[in-house]
Amino acid sequence: MGQKILVTGGAGYIGATAVRLLLKHGHEVTALDNLSQGHREAVPDRARLVLTDLSNREALGTLFRESKFDAVMHFAASALVGESMQLPEKYFRNNVTNSLNLLECCAANKVSRFVFSSTAATFGDPQTSLIDENSPKNPLNPYGESKLQVEAMLHWFQKIHGVRYAVLRFFNVAGAWDGHGEHHDPESHLIPIVLKVAQGKRESVSVFGSDYPTPDGTCVRDYVHIYDLAVAHLLVLDALKERDALAYNLGNGNGFSVREVIEASRKVTGRPIPTVESPRRPGDPPVLVASSAKISKELGWKPRYDKLEEIIQTAWDWHQKYPNGYEGKKE
Ligand SMILES: NC(=O)c1ccc[n+]([C@@H]2O[C@H](COP(=O)([O-])OP(=O)(O)OC[C@H]3O[C@@H](n4cnc5c(N)ncnc54)[C@H](O)[C@@H]3O)[C@@H](O)[C@H]2O)c1
Repeated sequence: MGQKILVTGGAGYIGATAVRLLLKHGHEVTALDNLSQGHREAVPDRARLVLTDLSNREALGTLFRESKFDAVMHFAASALVGESMQLPEKYFRNNVTNSLNLLECCAANKVSRFVFSSTAATFGDPQTSLIDENSPKNPLNPYGESKLQVEAMLHWFQKIHGVRYAVLRFFNVAGAWDGHGEHHDPESHLIPIVLKVAQGKRESVSVFGSDYPTPDGTCVRDYVHIYDLAVAHLLVLDALKERDALAYNLGNGNGFSVREVIEASRKVTGRPIPTVESPRRPGDPPVLVASSAKISKELGWKPRYDKLEEIIQTAWDWHQKYPNGYEGKKE
């Protein structure tokens, strides 16, 4: 049966994907966003769009009292690792304080299921090749720390106020689905940057560090497709009817180096994609690859897009169709 779901950050890259999948499954969706990063046009007409900021506790209170949500999916956040090293206050305010505002509304209005977007950045520089849920959490930056603090709040809100929760720790999210793709400003993610170079919108892509202890010296990351991520959100939403607290890592279990991503993008696009060798960036761990064995075993999650070239192809198709992203795109 359709449920009433609030999706914060619903005009953003991942949130708007979840909105689409929830609608396809017959849910009634409210997308909340302040459009600091998101795009109004990314939200399908069938969803209700509420333009407000999570710091506005009064507006949130009214929204919750009037809407009687069954569950919340919380994507809204500030999410730039580099910026968090310059402006930690922005990350603790937006990611921690504003999540607290939302959790208070859930507790006060008996919304008992909460799905939270956490991140691989909570693990810091893990010493294992495949990161599972029990790997030590030692964030290297305020962004990862802010997400870990929300994980801690969720634990206590469940115990004390009965707000059940699922923490989903995403690794590198990529790709496009259902006419929706990635458009951040500034863009910090490798695949859309590489595709901008392929489109001739940037001259080259920087390779930050080629002396890491990895097979080709560049950082290795795990890429998960936005559709597969959205599917995981629906699975945990259902599982929370029975379970109090869930935490899963979400990746593909396959690591790809920066050079491999660039090479795969050359194949997909047929364009040369020049690179510039640059120094390492502070806070970049050499290898981040998820074990998603737990969510596969417990909830049967299996990525549909498990090949890097396929993931890039979906993104490339979108970038070619909408060369300026959401600028000028109307659905
Ligand atoms: N993209 C990735 O690879 C990745 C990886 C790990 C975790 N995550 C997490 O997933 C979530 C979504 O990421 P994304 O890539 O879709 O980011 P995004 O920036 O595209 O989406 C976040 C949305 O939240 C909105 N927002 C931010 N602060 C807000 C506030 N105070 N009030 C209302 N709206 C606000 C923004 O306008 C934006 O639309 C984030 O929490 C991020 O930390 C993303």
